[in-house]
Amino acid sequence: MDWGTMSKEENYCFDVAGYLHVPGVLTGEEVDVLCQRLDRSGQTQGMLSWPKVEREPFRNLLIHPRLVWYLNQIIGYGFRLDQEPTWISNATNQVTTPLVGGDEPRDPARTYYFQNGRRYCQSVRVIWALADIEKGDGGFVMVPCTHKSRVETPVDIVTGEDDMGLIFQPSLKAGDLLLVAGNALQGMRPWQGKEQQSLLNYSYAGRAAIQSTGNGDWTQDDPSPEWHQQISADQRASLYQPGYSNSTPAPTIVTDGKTTKLDESRGVFHPSIYKLDPDSGIDQKEFYFWELNGYLVLRGVMDQEWLEEANHAIDRFQDRVVVGEELARGSKSLAGTGRPTMGGLLKLPYPYCEPFRKMVAYPPTQHRLNWMGGSGARMSDATLFCAVQGTSGHSLHDAGEPMYPPMGYQYQNGRSYAQAVTTTWQLRDVPPDLGGFACVPGSHKAKYPPPRGVTSCDDHMGLVKQLVMKAGDVLFFADGALTHGTTAWKNPVSRRAVLIKYSSRSFHRSGGEMVHPWNRWSAKLIEGMSDAQLAVMRGPDRDARQHNVPRLEVTDGAVEVSYERGSALYSGEAPKEPVVDKVPRSDRGVS
Ligand SMILES: [Fe+2]
Repeated sequence: MDWGTMSKEENYCFDVAGYLHVPGVLTGEEVDVLCQRLDRSGQTQGMLSWPKVEREPFRNLLIHPRLVWYLNQIIGYGFRLDQEPTWISNATNQVTTPLVGGDEPRDPARTYYFQNGRRYCQSVRVIWALADIEKGDGGFVMVPCTHKSRVETPVDIVTGEDDMGLIFQPSLKAGDLLLVAGNALQGMRPWQGKEQQSLLNYSYAGRAAIQSTGNGDWTQDDPSPEWHQQISADQRASLYQPGYSNSTPAPTIVTDGKTTKLDESRGVFHPSIYKLDPDSGIDQKEFYFWELNGYLVLRGVMDQEWLEEANHAIDRFQDRVVVGEELARGSKSLAGTGRPTMGGLLKLPYPYCEPFRKMVAYPPTQHRLNWMGGSGARMSDATLFCAVQGTSGHSLHDAGEPMYPPMGYQYQNGRSYAQAVTTTWQLRDVPPDLGGFACVPGSHKAKYPPPRGVTSCDDHMGLVKQLVMKAGDVLFFADGALTHGTTAWKNPVSRRAVLIKYSSRSFHRSGGEMVHPWNRWSAKLIEGMSDAQLAVMRGPDRDARQHNVPRLEVTDGAVEVSYERGSALYSGEAPKEPVVDKVPRSDRGVS
């Protein structure tokens, strides 16, 4: 039987969020058998070594065909069971344990690898639901996207003191399969459900990943040859063999370049040239949230007086609202009427421009822009988005895949490199489920393109989040990398959000007159150049994915300039035909 490969939706979900929910893998009969065996045994582990009749369903589960099919694609061929299965019930639920996981510091034996279409998730937790779990029941929880988190998890999130709204508790039906990246932040919460909690938990690993020891007698041996007694303990620590309990976790030799010392705690010692800087002026929780999700909401930036001035100005110039096109792009759930906006807020007559000009280089927001993308961000106009009840949503757009450097997101060595950051200043409350900005958290690091059901929100797989905000809050998002848009506006009170886009110092986003060779170079330098030569003398232009600037193509060994346009956006200056006639003859440029 050929089942093909995982669907693009499944690949996307696991890649972006670090989990995959597969409904109805086990039949009701299979679930009943497993439950009976567990009830009969009164035990919560060791099921693979129970008497024959009792253990069979658990051994069958170990290599359930559907599971094997998934793990071959998620972990890679040769995956293996790392730890014995356990049964999670109300009696075993460890409610006080802090969450574990996250990808900083990186644990190479448990982390998520993806490159050039190949994925190796070195650790996968497999959860089989044997009873239904409803929303709010508690039990197993995780923080989506943390399998790719590059920032150390703040203590408040580990302890649950402040989860920043990031905790996800999956709802499952008996017979469902849940696959969770082993390095995603996860744990248990107190069980609140009416019924008994019943989950079977299996842990799998990559074929070479060193994680746990087994439970065989041999694991208790010391395999060191006798001559190891003649060398120091530090030296023996350098010659250990994995797979034994005395070598798990691996011994730690602490060094300073001059001495060696055995660390009995066996914590990982991995020197770094960087350390967390508490004086960086960056709130670590904010940075964590931003890096994890690709957006950040700064609460209460505008005070009441500022909000009143801004809203008053909007009231005054309602006649400047322009209703644009419908942006649902064929989505059923986003369908509605055209999108109303009002541009030019910075140029409103005095004093109405004042509340909007105050947004320019406003210290708290400018500071975030600096750490999100580095200095040199330049802003667009300020535009009011003022959807009314019935206005369509804007189908979700942009993504981490395909990668697009001028508007992309990268993280390196403690710095966020978001090349495009858009801010939205809320002039009114944005309540839940009534429309507004929505995004796929974590999609700025996606390695699979967003499926159609996600961008249309018609089949969003639970990955799309509509943000709830208050008047005065400012949203930042990694435009161009984060998959984002708006849900249809259902609120009788119209939307009032001021949108300002920032481009980084590193890339152009709108072209302009300096793209032309005759404005960029002296007339003497470009005079007499061919069209093909002029094509490479252009200045930085809008790079909107493909086919939006004149470019050289080679056909049968000959170089030609192509002005053919793709579907991407163009700057107004982009030529449609040869420009050789436009080169001026004097040394004064023309545009
Ligand atoms: Fe957008």
